[in-house]
Amino acid sequence: MARILRLFIFVGILGLAAFFYLTRPVGVDPDDFANLVGDPSHGTQVFHAAGCASCHAAPKTDFSDHPILSGGQKFPSPFGTFNAPNISPDPQNGIGGWTLLEFANAVQAGVSPDGAHYYPAFPYTAYAKMRPQDVADLKSFMDALPISYSPSLPHDVGFPFNIRRTLGGWKLLFANSDWVLTNAESPEIERGRYLVEALAHCGECHTPRNALGGLKRGDWLQGAFIPGEGKVPAIASGQLDWAPSDIAYYLETGFTPEFDSAGGAMTHVVENMGQLSASDRESIAAYLKLIP
Ligand code: HEC
Ligand code: HEC
Repeated sequence: MARILRLFIFVGILGLAAFFYLTRPVGVDPDDFANLVGDPSHGTQVFHAAGCASCHAAPKTDFSDHPILSGGQKFPSPFGTFNAPNISPDPQNGIGGWTLLEFANAVQAGVSPDGAHYYPAFPYTAYAKMRPQDVADLKSFMDALPISYSPSLPHDVGFPFNIRRTLGGWKLLFANSDWVLTNAESPEIERGRYLVEALAHCGECHTPRNALGGLKRGDWLQGAFIPGEGKVPAIASGQLDWAPSDIAYYLETGFTPEFDSAGGAMTHVVENMGQLSASDRESIAAYLKLIP
């Protein structure tokens, strides 16, 4: 009896050790960021392409070149409601004083400065594909944005999702920083792939998710359903029969070929895409045409 009990305790301890090992927060490679100096003017482009203000600007504020990233927007999900935090340069309530490595760990690995996992409502699984220099440029731009003193709001998430450690299991299952389109055969397609899959995280809204909130990469850009937003259309080539120039025009102006205008969450995406160069929008269109 005592031997069986000891065996159970032993197996239990092994199980816990495996859980803690497998779900531990893993950051980015510090060497990738060691000697980088950010260029704020290029950071502006990265900031628009990555759509940080779409989630972190205060609810219902107008977009500007220097938005106040006070947070406060709510994101309902099947697991609870997330509140975007203050990421303005205030050291108390925002992220002022963070090192580049701390910033990169948050944006690319979903790990906080004190070593906790972030919820994937923050699309770090897409940003994981960003180039380190772009992360440094982005930070140097954001460091100069106006300060907000609003404290971040706690999330409203139930058990067991309120235990951040469990997100380590989620990352093991679903975080995947391999390109979806594996062969980008020209610089234009490579650029489009970088914008769609990494910076502009189009797949976060346009790709369906499984019951645990993981993206179904096999149904890439095939349309989805978002709580609070409703149906998000498919934008893969078979289902969106617009010419590449129509797609680029839509991303610039929000007008469809039928002269409807973009609504819902796409409004902010269009505001951001309108800030990019025409060739960036064309490369996004060229990429979409390659997705079956
Ligand atoms: C789709 C909405 C969304 C987008 C887009 C987004 N974020 Fe966030 N972000 C969130 C949410 C939600 C959290 C809270 C995550 C958590 O607490 O686990 C968060 C958390 C953060 C944090 C951690 C803040 C803290 O106090 O610990 C940082 C830093 C951050 N985001 C930076 C960025 C940057 C930089 C971008 C653009 C590259 C960006 N975010 C784009 C939703 C978003
Ligand atoms: C935050 C969620 C979100 C993100 C990110 C997003 N979209 Fe959308 N997109 C939507 C929604 C919602 C609609 C529907 C808009 C409407 O009803 O007017 C839409 C509509 C579209 C349409 C029009 C399709 C049609 O049939 O009318 C295109 C094209 C499109 N998105 C492309 C993109 C591209 C390219 C990206 C990345 C650069 C992107 N979207 C990122 C939510 C998003």
